[in-house]
Amino acid sequence: MKRKSRRINFRFWQKHMAIDLGTTNTLIYVPRKGVVLQEPSVVALRDGAVIAAGEEAYRMLGRTPVGIKAERPIQGGVIADFDLTRKMLQHFISRVVKVYPMLKLRAIVTVPYGTTQVERRAVLTAGKRAGVKETYLIEEPIAAAIGSGLPVAEPRGSFVVNFGGGVTEIAAISLGGIVLAQSLRQGGETIDETIMRYINRRYRLDIGLSTAEEAKRLAGYATDPPPELTYVFRGINLYSRIPDTLEVKAQEITEAMEPVLSNLATAIRQVFEQIPPQLATDVMNDGILLAGGGALLKNLDLYLSRQINLPVYVVDDPFTCAVRGASEALRYLDRLELQRG
Ligand SMILES: Nc1ncnc2c1ncn2[C@@H]1O[C@H](COP(=O)(O)OP(=O)(O)O)[C@@H](O)[C@H]1O
Ligand SMILES: [Mg+2]
Repeated sequence: MKRKSRRINFRFWQKHMAIDLGTTNTLIYVPRKGVVLQEPSVVALRDGAVIAAGEEAYRMLGRTPVGIKAERPIQGGVIADFDLTRKMLQHFISRVVKVYPMLKLRAIVTVPYGTTQVERRAVLTAGKRAGVKETYLIEEPIAAAIGSGLPVAEPRGSFVVNFGGGVTEIAAISLGGIVLAQSLRQGGETIDETIMRYINRRYRLDIGLSTAEEAKRLAGYATDPPPELTYVFRGINLYSRIPDTLEVKAQEITEAMEPVLSNLATAIRQVFEQIPPQLATDVMNDGILLAGGGALLKNLDLYLSRQINLPVYVVDDPFTCAVRGASEALRYLDRLELQRG
């Protein structure tokens, strides 16, 4: 009995968490608890001090009065502002755990594929300053592969496409490491911009990015949209300068998005063509897995499988896939060679 209570005490000092520091969203996962935080990667500051982070700061983007600024510390998959990233991390961590000096806080943080040593150091330092005692870094495609249940530590090839907000990572994985990967500087936000520009040019209606994003989520189909489905855009008429609405068929949204998706298909094909034949055989059998928020685009699996002639599947809960995988990786740190700080 005595031993048991001592063990509980030991746990009390120790906390583990996985952090997915994304361009668009940050997630924190605590083992046995699940996703405890899921917020936009945005911070709002007044005189250098954080006044809001996440959802609240997101609503301030583009609407801040003098003296307040709302920013995205991570842009295009890279840390654009180190200091802001640290502040945001600190804010989010303090929201889920009470950090005190004795706490043995261990965190595993996902970094995009292709993150430079300088950027990696920046994340490690940010973790340390935010009160984390031991920080491990894991490449996002590997985390996503683990999260989707792939046998990454085995000599079997897996192929993952992590479709994020600012970047999309395409990776072939085996034995816990990346065999070949490419990071494409386009993601869900590129689709939003494309829809916005299309509506602007074709109908002279000025819409915001968040309207374009909503249209994508509600009426965006990578292929085969329902014939009767439409979306009503609200914006500013560029001729009359007055608010206006416009009903557009889902089919048109599909056509507007096509160039971005076709780019993605081409990039996937290029990576696939370069992987060793044995690995290619595994991928032909097991298929390509789609993770990240962008994987939620309707019929994307159908579109890609037609384009590249391979089976394509969307993972369960693509949004949380990487953070769940990172948390899982904490359990076999010895088998994955992760950078530590
Ligand atoms: N239902 C949906 N259909 C299409 N795209 C979606 C949907 N839900 C979210 N997204 C897109 O997912 C992207 C964010 O994905 P996420 O994996 O959180 O990105 P990151 O890892 O870069 O932070 C955004 O561009 C968002 O518009
Ligand atoms: Mg991500």
